[in-house]
Amino acid sequence: MTFAIRASLLHCLRDPGLDGRDGGAIQFIRDAVVVVEGTKFERVGDAARLLPQLGPDVRVHDHRGQYLLPGFVDCHAHFPQIDVIASYGAQLLEWLEKYTFPEETKFADRAHADAAAKFFLDRLIENGTTTASVFCTVHPQSVDAFFTESEARGLRMVAGKCMMDRNAPDGLRDTAESGVRESIELIERWHQHGRSLYAITPRFAATSTPEQLRAMGALAMQYPTTYIQSHVAENKSEIEWIAKLFPEHRSYLDVYDQHGLLRERAIYAHCIYLSDLDRARMAEAGASAAFCPTSNLFIGSGLYNLAQAIAARNVVGLGTDVGGGTSYSMLQTLAEAYKVQQLQGISMSPAYALYLATLGGANALSLEDKIGSIEVGKEADFVLIDPRATALLERRTSLRNDALDAWFALMTLGDDRTIAATFANGVKIYENRTLQIARPGADS
Ligand code: GUN
Ligand code: ZN
Repeated sequence: MTFAIRASLLHCLRDPGLDGRDGGAIQFIRDAVVVVEGTKFERVGDAARLLPQLGPDVRVHDHRGQYLLPGFVDCHAHFPQIDVIASYGAQLLEWLEKYTFPEETKFADRAHADAAAKFFLDRLIENGTTTASVFCTVHPQSVDAFFTESEARGLRMVAGKCMMDRNAPDGLRDTAESGVRESIELIERWHQHGRSLYAITPRFAATSTPEQLRAMGALAMQYPTTYIQSHVAENKSEIEWIAKLFPEHRSYLDVYDQHGLLRERAIYAHCIYLSDLDRARMAEAGASAAFCPTSNLFIGSGLYNLAQAIAARNVVGLGTDVGGGTSYSMLQTLAEAYKVQQLQGISMSPAYALYLATLGGANALSLEDKIGSIEVGKEADFVLIDPRATALLERRTSLRNDALDAWFALMTLGDDRTIAATFANGVKIYENRTLQIARPGADS
C-alpha cells in the first residue's frame, strides 16, 4: 500500500557535532511530503514539488502543523523492569538485590513475561520509540515473549537472554553450558527473523564466572552478526567489586575485552568511569556506549561526559534504561541528557540531541543503513509530533520561527502527550493516544 504524509520534516542526514556546528547535517522542510510504499520510504521532499507528481490513488494525510521525525532509537532498556521503575532509596548493587532480582524471578512464568512484554512495548510505542536494545531475563521464555510481541507490532528490536552464573539469587542463574545452549536456540529462532536481532547478553561481569565469559566470547565469534549488550563502569562500588573479582585485569572494560566481548555491535550501557585507555579501546574495537541519563541520576551513579567520549571517537547512543531509568520517553531522556552535560559545563546542541535519539542511536546499533532518518529506501519508522500537545508547548514552540528552537522546547518539555502518531515498518501503530495494532490473543 502507498500513502503520503504532509507535515514538517525534521531529521539528521549525518552527525551534526555536539555543538551542532555542521548545520547541513540537519534537514528541515517546513511543508514536506513523505511517501511510504509498503515498508519503505519511497519519496521525500517539498510538498510543492512532490504533490503534483503523486498519482490519484495515493492518499495524502494532512498533518500540517506537526513535525515528522524518525522513530526514536532507545539503545538500552530492560523489559522485565516495568515494575522496578521509581524504586526508592538504593544505589546500584543494593537496587539490584532489593528490587530488580526479585521482579526478574517472576519471568519464569511465560504468561507473566507475555503481559510484561505487551506493557513495555506499548509504552515504547506511545513514546515514539520504534527500535530498542533490550535486556530480557535469564529465562529463554522471556525472549520468546518479547520478540513475539515486538514482531506483532512490526518493530525493529535487538534483545537477548541475560546470562548469569554467579552472584544472583536462585531462579535467576544459568550455567556456562546451559546459557550458551539456550542462547544458541534463541539465536537460531530469532536472529534476523523479520526485524528481530539477537543480542548475547552478559548482565555484567560480576554475575558471570570467567568460564561463562569465555563461553560467551566463543559464542560471539561463532555468530558474528549477533549483537552483544552489557553494563560497564556505572557505579563506584560496582567497579571496586569487579576489581576484586578480576584482579588480573587492567580495568572493568578489559574483562569484556579479554573475553572477546568488545567488538562491533557490542553496546555497553553507562561507561561513566572509563579511562582514556578504555575509551580508546572502545573506539578501536568499534563498540558503542549507551548514555542513560535518567538512570545515572536516579540511581545516583554519576555524570557521563559526552564531550570526552566524542573526542575519543566513541560511538554513543541514548538509553532510557527503564527501570533504573525513570521515563520511557526519549524526549524526557534527552532533557535529562542536556542537564547532565550542563552540570559539566557543556551545552549539548538541539541538533546533536536530535541525532542522539535517532540516526546516532541507529549508528550505535549499526542500523544506520536501515533506520534513523527519513530517506528513500529506508524502513518507514517515524513519528508525528504535535507542538500544540499542551498549552505550554503551544506557547513556547510558537515564540520563534526556528525549527531547532521548537525542537529544543519539545525535547525539554515534551513527553508521551507530544507523540501524535507512531508508524513502524510503514504501518500506523499508534494515534490519538490509542494503540492501533492487531493483537491476536491480546488481553491488555
Ligand atoms: N548492572 C547490572 N544489571 C543492571 C541493571 O539491571 N540495571 C542497571 N542500571 N545496571 C545494571
Ligand atoms: Zn541497564
